[in-house]
Amino acid sequence: MNTSINANKLSLKGVTKSFFGPRTGTTTLAVAEMNLDIQTGEFICIVGPSGCGKSTVLNMIAGLDHPSSGRIEKDGQGITGPGADRGVMFQDYALMPWQTAEENVGFGLRHGTPGEHLSAKQRQERVAHFIDLVGLRGSEHKYPHQLSGGMRQRVALARLLANGPDILLLDEPLGALDAQTRLILQAELLRIWGETSPASERKTAIFITHDIEEAVLLADRVVVMSTHPGRIREVVTIDIPRPRAGIARTNPKFGLLVEHIWSLIRDEAYRAIGGGSSLEPASHETTH
Ligand SMILES: Nc1ncnc2c1ncn2[C@@H]1O[C@H](COP(=O)(O)OP(=O)(O)OP(=O)(O)O)[C@@H](O)[C@H]1O
Ligand SMILES: [Mg+2]
Repeated sequence: MNTSINANKLSLKGVTKSFFGPRTGTTTLAVAEMNLDIQTGEFICIVGPSGCGKSTVLNMIAGLDHPSSGRIEKDGQGITGPGADRGVMFQDYALMPWQTAEENVGFGLRHGTPGEHLSAKQRQERVAHFIDLVGLRGSEHKYPHQLSGGMRQRVALARLLANGPDILLLDEPLGALDAQTRLILQAELLRIWGETSPASERKTAIFITHDIEEAVLLADRVVVMSTHPGRIREVVTIDIPRPRAGIARTNPKFGLLVEHIWSLIRDEAYRAIGGGSSLEPASHETTH
């Protein structure tokens, strides 16, 4: 008797995506035969060389695009289009410049399904809660151009969370930030995601990054993709205990995991930027 329970939040089953270019008349196989089960509350990072299909996968989970073949299921049901249950955040903030931070955060509540059953007061309270959560109190009446890059990304995160999705889809959300702001927001993201809460209370997160250290810091599992066509090369389990913010990098496993993941994508990453093979080092560092 099969007593197993399907506890997967998301399942990708043989997902393949090809794009037809009408001008060139050629077809690009962007993603091939991708299979992946993601549990509720898991934090998944996707890494891989430029062009390996990371954004394409995320867009299909968001319902903004559809697989050419295969199937994506959420809670056992096929995904047919976008929905408030899946919140998407991109690198470029996508804030509305004519609205204040507070108005941006409340946009989905005013105009979409997430706010339909809330009174104006409840919406306002919800916005204030998420403004507080991301540390923006005092800046809620500022416009995007009056905020730093890190603050704008906090607004985008608060807007995403205010809509109450159970899956967070994040496409290089910290990519445009300077190194220090990025470190701060990584720790903030872990706090907001709930790494100190029981796993059952966490949201499911899928986070694309080019930064392998960032992936190892954040993820329960890192999906390493290879390119032409985009496939899963390896799924690496990050067995570093939580909470990790501030301490994970001191764990001896951290560097080994970073090195292992880098070894999986190194040659393709060099090729993607036209740099040839990494096996021949360009120079030798010497210490005196
Ligand atoms: N709308 C589209 N039409 C045609 N080809 C596309 C389209 N979107 C993506 N592609 C192609 O599919 C492949 C995967 O693109 P995708 O944007 O998913 O890569 P990525 O891994 O997110 O890259 P990056 O790290 O640079 O963001 C690329 O070859 C890209 O040119
Ligand atoms: Mg991309």
